[in-house]
Amino acid sequence: MGAAAMMAALSAFAADDIVERGRYLTYAGGCISCHTEDVEDAIPLAGGRAMETPFGTFYSPNLTPDMKSGIGGWSDDDFVDAFWEGVSPDGKHYFPAFPYTSYTGASRDDLLAIKAYLFSLEPVPKETADHDLAWYMSSRIAAGAWKAVNFEPARFEPDPSQDEQWNRGAYLVRHLGHCGECHTPRNAIGVSQADTEMAGSTFGEEKIPNITTHRIDGIGRWSASDIEYFLDIGMLPDGDFTGSSMVDVIEDNTSKLTRDDRLAIASYLKSLPPRESAED
Ligand code: HEC
Ligand code: HEC
Repeated sequence: MGAAAMMAALSAFAADDIVERGRYLTYAGGCISCHTEDVEDAIPLAGGRAMETPFGTFYSPNLTPDMKSGIGGWSDDDFVDAFWEGVSPDGKHYFPAFPYTSYTGASRDDLLAIKAYLFSLEPVPKETADHDLAWYMSSRIAAGAWKAVNFEPARFEPDPSQDEQWNRGAYLVRHLGHCGECHTPRNAIGVSQADTEMAGSTFGEEKIPNITTHRIDGIGRWSASDIEYFLDIGMLPDGDFTGSSMVDVIEDNTSKLTRDDRLAIASYLKSLPPRESAED
């Protein structure tokens, strides 16, 4: 093989590699649950999932590389800015129904791997439906005002006093896996509270459990391997199976991860201080 052919073969290998890595990270980010319509035979990641919230119904956009209805025309920076800053390529503010509030901590490398994976998908022409929101939320100005008060863009910084496993877990839980979007209580305008991280919440009708190490309110009696097993197959230590929106999290995210990554998540959760569940 000549040098040029060798280089071409190597870069094709590297390209496959980034797509594979991106596919894994797309699972770790739980993108599929939100960006796939809730109908039989829906095309994964082509958008159209209706998401009911107290502010109205959001419809997730098409993430396939279709030039017109998808993200086929986006540059690397367009893509990264959506996650880091919560802004669209034409400068519009996203609503926090897209959890950029967690994804802001993701690394550029990981985000560009996700982009490479999305761009490897078959382009699907499918227009995104308009959101159907309460009047006070129905403009991008409301999204911008919310952001100005509640959002601080910041990358994940590893904590040098903790080991690698803990840091990997912290990155997955707080950022890519956005577990706190559900498990951390919010104040009246919908922002998660750092001092009550993972202490449980309610979202509309849904009760979301406390997953801190509190022995009664939380999962303090679970071992790290109980947590790992739960994230793999959805079974609680008492033999029951989990329900509601956690089923999607297990199916589209944590069951697709390596055992090491699930153990990293467990290590991070085991390190959280015990917190009582908020009264609400
Ligand atoms: C909790 C549901 C949810 C999850 C999880 C989620 N998204 Fe989204 N996403 C949305 C919603 C809703 C919007 C539209 C926000 C708006 O219009 O303000 C959106 C918007 C986007 C956009 C902007 C698209 C456009 O056309 O402007 C991109 C890109 C995106 N998401 C990618 C991803 C990726 C990649 C992941 C996984 C790492 C992900 N999303 C996870 C709900 C979600
Ligand atoms: C879309 C919202 C949502 C997200 C995101 C989410 N969870 Fe959950 N989780 C739930 C709900 C709801 C339940 C309770 C399910 C039930 O009622 O059976 C739950 C249950 C759990 C439980 C079992 C607790 C118990 O006492 O039964 C654990 C552990 C858990 N989640 C961990 C995680 C981790 C780790 C992540 C991030 C990778 C995560 N969850 C992301 C909604 C979510």
